[in-house]
Amino acid sequence: MDKDRKMMIMGLLLAVISSPVLTEDWKAKVIKSLEALVSSCVVVPCSFTHPEGNLPTSKLRGIWHISSNRDQRIYYDDSTTVIESFRGRTKLLGHLGEGNCTLEITDVRDHDNGPFCFRIELAPVAGSTLEKFSFVEDCVELKMLPDPPKPTLTHSKTAFQGLPFAVTCTVFHTCPSHDPKLTWSRGTAEGITEARRRSHSGIWEVQSILTFIAEEKDDDTELTCTSTFNGGRTSSEVLTLNVKRKENYNHIIIPVVVAVGTAVIFAVFCILMAKKYKTRIAELQNQEGSMWNRLSRLSRR
Ligand SMILES: *[C@@H]1O[C@H](CO)[C@@H](O)[C@H](O)[C@H]1NC(C)=O
Repeated sequence: MDKDRKMMIMGLLLAVISSPVLTEDWKAKVIKSLEALVSSCVVVPCSFTHPEGNLPTSKLRGIWHISSNRDQRIYYDDSTTVIESFRGRTKLLGHLGEGNCTLEITDVRDHDNGPFCFRIELAPVAGSTLEKFSFVEDCVELKMLPDPPKPTLTHSKTAFQGLPFAVTCTVFHTCPSHDPKLTWSRGTAEGITEARRRSHSGIWEVQSILTFIAEEKDDDTELTCTSTFNGGRTSSEVLTLNVKRKENYNHIIIPVVVAVGTAVIFAVFCILMAKKYKTRIAELQNQEGSMWNRLSRLSRR
């Protein structure tokens, strides 16, 4: 009896430990909340697992529906079953076979706030019935943005005349399938570097770096970065340039050079003159000496 009990507990423990390894659970990872710009697109990151483990995309049917009603589909393979207000505006970007249920909504409208939930149907395998699962615990709610977010400009405070100056324009968005385009009010393509990266889950960052040689005439002029979002909405940010002129010391250097030069020339002249007269004086003194000698020799006679 005691032995049987122990065996039973052991068996249970083994089952608990091994079960998650054998079969994966129905689980979905969907971002809870995401901002969406009206008229643009939004991409909702989503991934899921199911008990069958690996099934090709063709054996899986993905559905996105409004959380309150499973029959209000906003995405399905067969678009005739999709509610009219979403028909033609939704697409699965991810491959279901890779457990990717990422959804794209284009031409976002003010009433697209959701929440939306993902549902999966598995094609029947070896006699079993069609398996379905709604991940109603993991739904996404969209926060509608009526106006596009403004780009931000980062740069050093002052530009120096004749030196390169760089300005970075950054904008965040949730439509990575159609990135916003950043444009500048000046500069050429060679002076512009672009970059994009994921900031957080679902939020992306687009960056444009403009580099140019600052000139005196640029001082106090305006530089604008404009972001054009998918759907055509735009927003921009303006910066007033502050160009520091190259320091010019000519008004000090020239008089100093002239004064020092004059002094040097005068000093050299004085030294030469002094030398000349010294030899002259020495000559005279020698002459005087010889004359004295002659005189003294004469007097001795
Ligand atoms: C899912 O698919 C989207 C769109 O193709 C892709 O950007 C994303 O990286 C995929 N997610 C994962 C976890 O593979």
